[in-house]
Amino acid sequence: MSTASVHITGIGGYLPQRILKNSDLEKMIDTTDQWISERTGIHQRHIIAEDQMTSDMAAEAVKIALADAGLTIDDIDALVVATTTPDMIFPSTATIVQAKLGGKDFPAWDIQAVCSGFVYGLAQLEGMMRGGMFKRVVLVGAEAMSRIVDWTDRGTCILFGDGAGAVVLEARDSAAENGLIGSVLHADGSYRDLLKAEHPHQPSSPALHHPALHHAAADFSIDSAGTAAVEMKGNEVFRVAVSKLGGVVTEILAKYELTDNDIDWLVPHQANIRIIQATAKKLGMGLDRVALTVSKHGNTSSASVPLALNDLYRSGRLETGQLILLEAFAGGFAWGANLLRWSK
Ligand code: COA
Repeated sequence: MSTASVHITGIGGYLPQRILKNSDLEKMIDTTDQWISERTGIHQRHIIAEDQMTSDMAAEAVKIALADAGLTIDDIDALVVATTTPDMIFPSTATIVQAKLGGKDFPAWDIQAVCSGFVYGLAQLEGMMRGGMFKRVVLVGAEAMSRIVDWTDRGTCILFGDGAGAVVLEARDSAAENGLIGSVLHADGSYRDLLKAEHPHQPSSPALHHPALHHAAADFSIDSAGTAAVEMKGNEVFRVAVSKLGGVVTEILAKYELTDNDIDWLVPHQANIRIIQATAKKLGMGLDRVALTVSKHGNTSSASVPLALNDLYRSGRLETGQLILLEAFAGGFAWGANLLRWSK
């Protein structure tokens, strides 16, 4: 049996309490608030507490999303966590979240598409739900990026933050104009060396050979764990991101026979305000129609799209029937977009 439509019926966001401002970074590395603000649009980011894990942030976001949907964990058929910073190599963070929330029996698994994990997850779950496999699922993007950045690398450590965003998805048998419309996904592994974090068991992992990483992090009580470190050729990533995102938004609108003018809200991955501005310009949209959290969250990888959606939702600006375009770009490279008519 197939399902006619899939809807977001609950949203939740969680950000750890500790805030790292640009002025704090000025004391850690050779940088300035002005440089970071102008080049990235980021003013601060949240940093996970030493005794927290990715699963803790995910569980908090899920609790809020379930309450928002008027459901409990017992109503759920599946739980998926998109993360690049899992608690452990295995078991999956999703199973840990399931246990922390007291859920039982339903399937739980992780998705790894880095910053595009939530967009990939929405596409995957919509397909499974339309096929009739699940009625009610939870999708979370959750990341402790502060644990895998090199706190001595001013080109990368300024960009990232921690947090989690969750949605409840519900399938309805009746056909509806609103709900998820569809997705476009892409990946091109030939770009894999431009943005990466080597696995800690790789002998060449820079984190293992960088005593300063532990020192700089310790000064500001950031638990870097020192197990992996993000490496990025920022300029090249920037250039490809702008081009691929411009392409994917055009592609998804054409696929579903919509135009730029039909979009009410852009909910982009929050990596850099200049990348977001380029996509908005391509769509002929003003920033007043874009969900923007990059200045206060930084890049929270797979959490950034659901956190931006949560922010937009909580601001009270979303109205039933509005068309929302979500998009993300990630290491791999992996990128994609989803279209959604708001129906909550
Ligand atoms: N503070 C001060 N100066 C810095 C700095 C910092 N935090 N980081 C880099 N610089 C310096 C560089 O050393 C360089 O100096 P030089 O000209 O003397 O060599 C100069 O600033 C310019 O560096 P560049 O890397 O060309 O800057 P940029 O304008 O490309 O901005 C990023 C750097 C990282 C902000 C930008 O490339 C970016 O956002 N890239 C995409 C990142 C991204 O989206 N990643 C995730 C995708 S999911």
